[in-house]
Amino acid sequence: MFNKLGGLQNYWFVIGHSSEFKKRKYQKRKLSGVPILIWRDEAKKLHAMLDVCAHKKSPLLVCDYKQNVVQCPYHGWKFDKEGKLLEIPSSPHLKEKIKCQIDTFPVVEQDGLVWIFPQQGVEPQQLPMALNDCKGKAWGTYFTTYDFETNEELLIENFMDSSHTPTIHNKIIRDDQKKTKHTITLTTAQDRVEASYAETQEKIAFGLQYILGKNLKVTHTDTFLPPNLVKVDYVMNGILRFNAFIACTEIDEGKTRAIIRLSLKFGLLNPMILSIIPFLVKKVLKQDFLITQLQFQNMNTFSNSKMHHIDYDGIFNKVNQLRQNIREGKNVAAKETAKQIEIIV
Ligand code: FES
Ligand SMILES: [Fe+2]
Repeated sequence: MFNKLGGLQNYWFVIGHSSEFKKRKYQKRKLSGVPILIWRDEAKKLHAMLDVCAHKKSPLLVCDYKQNVVQCPYHGWKFDKEGKLLEIPSSPHLKEKIKCQIDTFPVVEQDGLVWIFPQQGVEPQQLPMALNDCKGKAWGTYFTTYDFETNEELLIENFMDSSHTPTIHNKIIRDDQKKTKHTITLTTAQDRVEASYAETQEKIAFGLQYILGKNLKVTHTDTFLPPNLVKVDYVMNGILRFNAFIACTEIDEGKTRAIIRLSLKFGLLNPMILSIIPFLVKKVLKQDFLITQLQFQNMNTFSNSKMHHIDYDGIFNKVNQLRQNIREGKNVAAKETAKQIEIIV
């Protein structure tokens, strides 16, 4: 069913924010083209089931949140939360004869996110990765979601790519007139691809240099984590102050949802920054949406023509290679490798 994912099926996928799933309500989601029915029951527990009726493939709904009964609106067949057939209204006598079962999937909530394990009947060996580094009262959090018209690969690249920030996000994330040379250490391992930017004196936007002092020393790290996660950390004057955690979950071919959790630690200024963040983030995401949409269209139209990569693009080649290796179940070398790249952004 999730054939396209291959070995990536052994990872948890973020499917949404906890707050999207209200008690006694069901939601429809898609992962890699597969429709999934998710509901939060009377006891606030989440359940996930393939949203395809065992009778004639109609989508489903939940009719009882106490007993967790799923019903097909077409001919009324009912199923329990494990996907077992409970009732055939038009032919009750056939209930025992029909051997059918709808697939269900493990689902957990962690760090304000809802994660799905895309395998039926498999007990995942571990929970999703924990986002421990931004917990506690000092942190303010902002959640948002944005649908892109591109694939998972290109969206992951977009969120890890600093080299487009002075052009696409000029004066929001970086200033095209005030660029800095950065040395990046690119680390490739079994479980991640990490681009770590050496410390620079930076004038970043948001007016933060006025708040945090003139000599703002910034280091930042962009990390890819399988299956489709991007983690961005900014350390300012030695303190981790900003973290973006973005799941790039491919809903369908060419439709990818960014499920975003931003964490900020700017002391007393946190409420003020959090109040302007939604506006800025929306603007940035719209800019990314427009460019990646057109890029994706061209990628399809000119799929056979050559691209001219610079060494900075090596970061994304490593990400794609790691994903491909996992997809194909290839053994990835346990040894970490590191190399240095320079860019001006
Ligand atoms: S298609 Fe679901 S009951 Fe007939
Ligand atoms: Fe961007």
